[in-house]
Amino acid sequence: MSKAKFTVTAALPYANGPLHLGHVAGVYLPADIFVRFLRMNGHDVAFICGSDEHGAAITLRAKKEGITPSEIVDKYDGIIRKAFQDFNISFDIFHRTSSEIHHKTSQDFFLKLYENDKFTEETSEQYYDEEFQQFLADRYITGECPKCQNPNAYGDQCEKCGASHNAIDLINPKSSITGLSPELKKTTHWYLKLDSHQPFLEDWILKSHKLDWKPNVYGQCKSWLDDGLKPRAVTRDLDWGVPVPLESANGKVLYVWFDAPIGYISSTIEWAKNNNKNWEKYWKDPETELIHFIGKDNIVFHCIIFPAMLKAEGS
Ligand code: MF3
Ligand code: ZN
Repeated sequence: MSKAKFTVTAALPYANGPLHLGHVAGVYLPADIFVRFLRMNGHDVAFICGSDEHGAAITLRAKKEGITPSEIVDKYDGIIRKAFQDFNISFDIFHRTSSEIHHKTSQDFFLKLYENDKFTEETSEQYYDEEFQQFLADRYITGECPKCQNPNAYGDQCEKCGASHNAIDLINPKSSITGLSPELKKTTHWYLKLDSHQPFLEDWILKSHKLDWKPNVYGQCKSWLDDGLKPRAVTRDLDWGVPVPLESANGKVLYVWFDAPIGYISSTIEWAKNNNKNWEKYWKDPETELIHFIGKDNIVFHCIIFPAMLKAEGS
């Protein structure tokens, strides 16, 4: 290893519940050990983490506890932050995606992609809960699996037969928030043209880094690439999150998996500002190595989608 710089990130925990021992054992402790090792060897490291405070999971938890989403994230950000301190995890910064710098960084990022024609705009029909007055994320719809007839399949996936599908494929769908049958309503969203990044990703994942991945990571990425990447929505109809910075997008926010990884960048910017460093050296210098510690359900977001976002952003 040369004495280069390292940017080491640990998956931003959702601020919708306390930290679990499994998260510590699987992600944060290994990352901390690695970072301490790098520092002992004289490397310049930025060890980045923070709370992931957007998404439908937070609004649902708020509804369950009878408080607002912002009270939910304040509560769990505090609990998680304290747990990391008690475990003595040596982050250089533990920031928050509800912060102003994060909102600005992700909106600027979105706009740069928008202006450079990296999105398509598509209108489709999605399920809407009339009583809750919200479009429903696929996870919050249950119904009969079209493949195995399991009556309790989720909108995005059937846990019985493993099939993954869209909520629209379910038979007899029900909102898990109100129990009502949701209505189909038209809505417009912005889709990242993942398909246009297929050649770059095939080359980067399957060829130039073939031997660097763990077998399960390589396998998941290869199966996504073999299926052919498709444009993927990066906005949602939700009243909690980073507002989409376009006039025509009133009431829409960035998809949580679009803004959260940008949280690694906005947290680095905040850390650099407070410590008299140049954040760009940690993200744009070819000598700097970027290393993500993640959970196994985070693989495609870190290996396919975030790299495609960074490629599309271009700098
Ligand atoms: N909050 C997600 C989870 O707990 C991880 C987000 S990682 C990031 O699974 F890249 F989006 F920041
Ligand atoms: Zn099934």
